[in-house]
Amino acid sequence: MLNQLLKIKYPIIQGAMANIATAKFAAAVSNAGALGVIGTGAMTPELARAAIEECRTLTTQPFAVNVMLMNPHSDAIMDIICELKPAVVTTGAGNPGKYIEKLKANGILVVPIVPTVALARRMEQAGADMLIVEGTEAGGHVGELTTMALVPQVFDAVKIPIIAAGGIADGRGYVAALALGAIGVQVGTCLLVADECPIHENYKQAILDAKDTDTVVTGRSVSAPVRIKKNAMSQKYLKLEQAGAVRDDLEKLTLGSLRKAVFDGDMENGSVMMGQIAGMVKERKSLAQIFADMTKNAKQVYAQIHTNVNGDDYA
Ligand SMILES: Cc1cc2nc3c(=O)[nH]c(=O)nc-3n(C[C@H](O)[C@H](O)[C@H](O)COP(=O)(O)O)c2cc1C
Repeated sequence: MLNQLLKIKYPIIQGAMANIATAKFAAAVSNAGALGVIGTGAMTPELARAAIEECRTLTTQPFAVNVMLMNPHSDAIMDIICELKPAVVTTGAGNPGKYIEKLKANGILVVPIVPTVALARRMEQAGADMLIVEGTEAGGHVGELTTMALVPQVFDAVKIPIIAAGGIADGRGYVAALALGAIGVQVGTCLLVADECPIHENYKQAILDAKDTDTVVTGRSVSAPVRIKKNAMSQKYLKLEQAGAVRDDLEKLTLGSLRKAVFDGDMENGSVMMGQIAGMVKERKSLAQIFADMTKNAKQVYAQIHTNVNGDDYA
C-alpha cells in the first residue's frame, strides 16, 4: 500500500490546489498522517522555494510538491525542487517527461497525474515511479474519462503502482478505488472544508451547499478543461465558448478568478473549483478527523462487502 511505500500513516494524498495548498496546509496534512502536497501552480520560483523551506520547518513527515506544467516557471521550479529534494513530486496538466531523469537522480519520487492510458504508458516508459490516475469527476483541470472507467484500464496497461483520484470523499470511494487496482487515493474537494484549509468562508459554504449537478466543465474548446461550480462566470465563459471565442478572450475572463474565489469569497465571478463529489461533503472537520473517518468507514465498507460476497450462494 501507498502508506508503506511513503512511510506515512494513511494511503491518502492531499490533492495539490493552486493558491490553497500552501506550505502550512501541506504540513498540516502530513502531520495528520496523509501526504501533504504544496501546490506551486500559481507560484514564482522564489515563492516555491520559500514554501518548501517553510514546510520543512512545520513538519518532519514526508511531503510532496506539485508542479502545474502550464506554469511558465516550471523549469525554474523543477530546478529548485532538485536542489531542495522533497520526498515526492506530482505533476499536473501536461507531460513531465523532460524532468523525470533529473528528479530521480536527486532521489525524488516522480508521480505524474494522468487522464488517459496513453499518457500513463508514456510516463511509465519515461521512468515515473507511480501514477495518479484522475477521473473527470475531479475539481480543477480534468480529462474526459471517469475514475471508474480509467483506473482499471491504466492498471491493466502499466506495471508501476497507481493512485486513484476524482470523486473520492469517503470509505466507499476509497474501497472502490482499491478494488479497481489502486494502492491509495488522492482527494481534493473533501479537504476544502477542513478546518485547516485556508480558503474564504463563502467557498467552504459553497461546497457544503453543493448538490450533485452543481459543477460544469469550462475550457473544452481550447483544450484546457476545468471543472468548477456553476455560477455567473462559468455561464458567461460557456456562452463565449459556444460563440467561438478564442483563448485570449476566454483568458481575460478567468484572469485572477481562482484568487477571487479563494481570497475574496466571490462565488459568482470567481473560479470556484470543486469536484462532482462536493454534493456529498456535508460536514466541517479537522484534517485528522477526515482521514480517520475515511479509514474507519473504508474498513466497515470492506467488511460489509466481504460478508455480502461470502454470504451469498451464487452457485
Ligand atoms: C480547488 C482545486 C484546485 C486544484 N488545483 C490543482 C493544482 O494546482 N494542481 C493539480 O495537479 N491538481 C489540482 N487540482 C486537482 C486535485 O489535486 C485533486 O487531484 C482532485 O481534487 C481530486 O478529485 P476530487 O476533487 O474529486 O477530490 C485541484 C482541485 C481543486 C478542487
